[in-house]
Amino acid sequence: MTNIRAAITGIEVFRPDYILNNRELETMVDTTDEWITTRTGVKERRILKGEGKGTSDMAAEAVKKLLLKTNTSPDDIDVVICATATPDMQFPATANIISDKSGIKHAFSFDLNAACSGFIFALTTGSRFIETGKYKKIIVVGADKMSSIVDYTDRQTCILFGDAAGAILLEPSDNGYGVIDTILYTDGSGKKYLHQKAGGSVRPASRETVDAKEHFIYQEGQAVFKFAVSKMADVSAEIMSKNNLKADDVKWLVPHQANMRIIDATANRMGIGREKVMINIDKYGNTTNGTIPLCLWEWENKLRKGDNIILAAFGGGFTWGAIYIKWAYDPVEQLNN
Ligand code: UT7
Repeated sequence: MTNIRAAITGIEVFRPDYILNNRELETMVDTTDEWITTRTGVKERRILKGEGKGTSDMAAEAVKKLLLKTNTSPDDIDVVICATATPDMQFPATANIISDKSGIKHAFSFDLNAACSGFIFALTTGSRFIETGKYKKIIVVGADKMSSIVDYTDRQTCILFGDAAGAILLEPSDNGYGVIDTILYTDGSGKKYLHQKAGGSVRPASRETVDAKEHFIYQEGQAVFKFAVSKMADVSAEIMSKNNLKADDVKWLVPHQANMRIIDATANRMGIGREKVMINIDKYGNTTNGTIPLCLWEWENKLRKGDNIILAAFGGGFTWGAIYIKWAYDPVEQLNN
C-alpha cells in the first residue's frame, strides 16, 4: 500500500459555440419543450459544427487550456487517458491525436470506453498510475461528439445528447487529499438496451448498415432508466457507507447528467438536498464523458480544500460507479499560483 493519492489540480473544458435548444428541436421532430423539460431536464445542448471536426478537436482545446491554467509544460505530462464513446476513428486512439494536437510528446496515451461512465473509469485508472509513485502528471479527458452518432429523426434520443470535452490534471498528493476510494461495476447483459449496432467487427459498415441507420445510438430508454436509477443510487450509497460518510459529511454530489429524475433519485438515496448537487443538464444535455468534468469546472470556484465530493455515473454496457474525492485546493490558491 502507498500513501500517495491522486489529486485533481486543475480543470478545463471546451464547449462548442452552437446551441441547439428545445424550440429548434420542435421544428425537427415531433416533440415539445415541455415534454423534454419535464421528462429529462434538458433545455439546450451544444453541437460541434464544422467539416472534419471531431472529438479530438474539442478535447485538445480543453487540454491546451488546462496546461496554460495550471502552468504545466506539455513536456512534463506522463500519461493522457481519453474517455470517449465517439473516438475520431476506430484507430489510432483519440488520446494519441489529442496529445499530438496539444504538443504532448513524452507521454503514452490511450483511450478507454465505458460509455457514459467512462470519465470515472478513466479517473480511477489515472489515479492508480499516480499511486504507484512512478507517474507525476496525468491528464484525464472526457470528450464526446455525440452529434456524430445521434439520429436527428429519432425523438427518443436526439433530445438527450450534446457535444463537449473536459480535462483534468492529476498529480500526487501525500497529505490526504485526492481520490480516496472508487467503486466500479459492469454488467454486459445490458448491451441489448443501449448500443450502436454497426461499425464494429461484428457488423462492419456497409451500404445496408447505413440504410438501416445502424450507426446511430440505439436505446430502450425505459429499460435503461430503471437500471440507471437503481444502480447509480445504490453505488453512491455504497461508497458513503464504505467510507463512513453521513449525508452531512458530503459537500457535493457530481452526478452524470443523463436525466434530471435519475439525478434526483441518487441525491434522495444519499439523503442530500439539491443545493449540494451539481446540475447543468439544462444547458448541455448528456455529453456522455463530458458531463462530470463540465460540472467540476462550472463549480470550481465554489470548491474548498477538504470538501468531500462524490462523483457518480451510469452508462451503456452497462457500466456504473462512484468515486469519493477529498478536494485538494481552494480557488484563491489556484488563482495565485
Ligand atoms: O447516459 C447513459 C444512460 N442513459 C440514460 O440514463 C437514459 C435513461 N432513460 C431516460 O432518461 C428516459 O427513459 C427517456 C428520457 C429516454 C425517455 O423518458 P421516459 O419517461 O422513459 O419516456 P418513454 O420512453 O416511456 O415514453 C413516454 C411517451 C411515449 O409515448 P406513448 O407511448 O406513451 O404514447 C413516447 O413515444 O413519450 C413519448 N416520447 C416523446 N414525446 C415527445 C418519447 N420521446 C418523446 C419526445 N417528445 N422527445
